Amino acid sequence: MILAHTSVDVHRALTVSPHPIGFVPTMGALHDGHASLFDVARASCATVVASIFVNALQFDQQSDLERYPRPLERDLEICREHGVDIVYVPDHETMYPSDFSTVVSVGRLGRILEGAHRPGHFDGVATVVTKLLSAVRPDVAYFGQKDLQQVAVIERLNSDLDLGVEIRTEPTVRDDDGLALSSRNVRLSETARRQALAIPRALEFARDTARSVGASPTEVSRSMYEQLTASGLKVDYAIVLDADSFQESDSITDRSVALIAATVDGVRLIDNCFLRADH
Ligand code: PAJ
Repeated sequence: MILAHTSVDVHRALTVSPHPIGFVPTMGALHDGHASLFDVARASCATVVASIFVNALQFDQQSDLERYPRPLERDLEICREHGVDIVYVPDHETMYPSDFSTVVSVGRLGRILEGAHRPGHFDGVATVVTKLLSAVRPDVAYFGQKDLQQVAVIERLNSDLDLGVEIRTEPTVRDDDGLALSSRNVRLSETARRQALAIPRALEFARDTARSVGASPTEVSRSMYEQLTASGLKVDYAIVLDADSFQESDSITDRSVALIAATVDGVRLIDNCFLRADH
């Protein structure tokens, strides 16, 4: 496994690497959700590249950035175990030298939901992902459905900026109790973790409700919200949207997705599921 610290190192390693090149960008603190992306990339690409970079630009809270776990040695071990060929690990100054001035901003999609609750977040994501895709120039890039709005933002910039990368969205990996794996889960106390299970429960409930004839997106959204607040969670949003337009629609369709963001004991969690599919 090759460790690359600059985009020049990445280019050098890639000139002798066979295509297709699959790429999995991460912020480290790797878990089975990340590993599942390495595995799908490994299964269909000749070269697998991962990046590990805690991108300060996408954190709206300094304390969240400071508390973000950085177990680099363990992360590299996980990359090795899952067959990653090249790991790109730039440092902050390499990515953002003092004269760095460009921002990639995706418009409405970057300002709603997560974008509304975390101002600047998606500009940070879009800017770093544009840089990473430009450095690696992969044939395929893999992202998790867990961050569905993030994938929509990345698909938009990939298309708008003619980057020509195939963007793949892979299913959310969950713990046995249903909680979506997240690098932030380690911050949950035992009690908070139990309380957080209200999120997958509300999503399951949304799917059940959506199956009943005549249920509207608004009704499903309202009942998710009520369930979550009744369980003591501070809800930022609990909403049913069309996954392609990220707009509300009048009826439930195959593209309807329920999205939740809520805080439990100071830890903010997000999750989503399609109402008429098994993920
Ligand atoms: P990070 O949170 O480390 O996630 C890296 C990738 O793993 C993302 O595509 C995310 O959706 C996916 N992922 C996280 N949890 C998952 C789960 N439980 N199941 C499946 N996939 C999961 O997302 C980021 O980093 C950053 O915003 C990044 C894109 C790297 C830009 O900085």
